[in-house]
Amino acid sequence: MANIQIRKYQDEDADVVKELFTLGMSEHVPSSFTHVLKQPLTQMFLMVTFCALITSSKSFLLPVLAVTLVLAAVRQMVVYMFNKYIETTLKKDLDNIGRTYLRKNNSCFWVAESDGRVVGTVGCLPSERAPGFLELKRISVRRSHRGMGIAKALCQTVADFTRERGFPAVILYTSVVQTDAQKLYEHMGYTKIREFLIPELTAKILNFTLFEYRKKLIKPSN
Ligand SMILES: CC(C)(COP(=O)(O)OP(=O)(O)OC[C@H]1O[C@@H](n2cnc3c(N)ncnc32)[C@H](O)[C@@H]1OP(=O)(O)O)[C@@H](O)C(=O)NCCC(=O)NCCS
Repeated sequence: MANIQIRKYQDEDADVVKELFTLGMSEHVPSSFTHVLKQPLTQMFLMVTFCALITSSKSFLLPVLAVTLVLAAVRQMVVYMFNKYIETTLKKDLDNIGRTYLRKNNSCFWVAESDGRVVGTVGCLPSERAPGFLELKRISVRRSHRGMGIAKALCQTVADFTRERGFPAVILYTSVVQTDAQKLYEHMGYTKIREFLIPELTAKILNFTLFEYRKKLIKPSN
């Protein structure tokens, strides 16, 4: 791994951490849109709209326009869903990383630095959804620094921290469209435990599935 250092988060990293999180999440908009288009319900709706309009109007232009409008609306819905998630996450924890991650014994936040520039982030804290485990959160690597093993090193940092504190496993959540992340976790020894739909109407309509991954840790021998 080329000249990368992992260190604990400091207050002056606040803006770049938020930027990396926002960029990392926003890049999933196109793949989420494709995911929605692949859903049988979406395809059926588009087909029915097209057929109904072509039969009733005897025009080709109107159904093409209508389908284009529906596609634009679906894309906006996906953008809205991601923007809402980013906004909520910034408010909930990344706007105050010190308070959320650094004041308690069983949580922490790290950044990866390359030549003095922050290029990766990860945090971990006690899981709300799965009490008794630490949860890996907010892993993101700048595009220009991908494929260099930075995320693997960040995952390892979380696993070491969790093991040192005596927890039996690290858990995390990712989504159906985050395929690079899924490959990373499977590569790092995580197992997919379950799949479930986000309990939110837009996500349900878009069939947006979340995956829970877990990595069991071996206790250090004394
Ligand atoms: C997922 C992410 C963190 C990976 O960062 P990275 O630094 O490029 O990952 P690494 O270089 O450490 O790769 C680790 C392993 O993950 C897998 N992997 C990562 N990116 C991959 C890709 N594009 N294609 C295939 N496998 C990939 C590989 O198994 C790789 O190991 P290998 O190179 O020995 O085969 C990065 O793509 C990212 O920031 N994505 C946007 C934010 C995001 O989705 N975060 C996940 C939140 S749940």
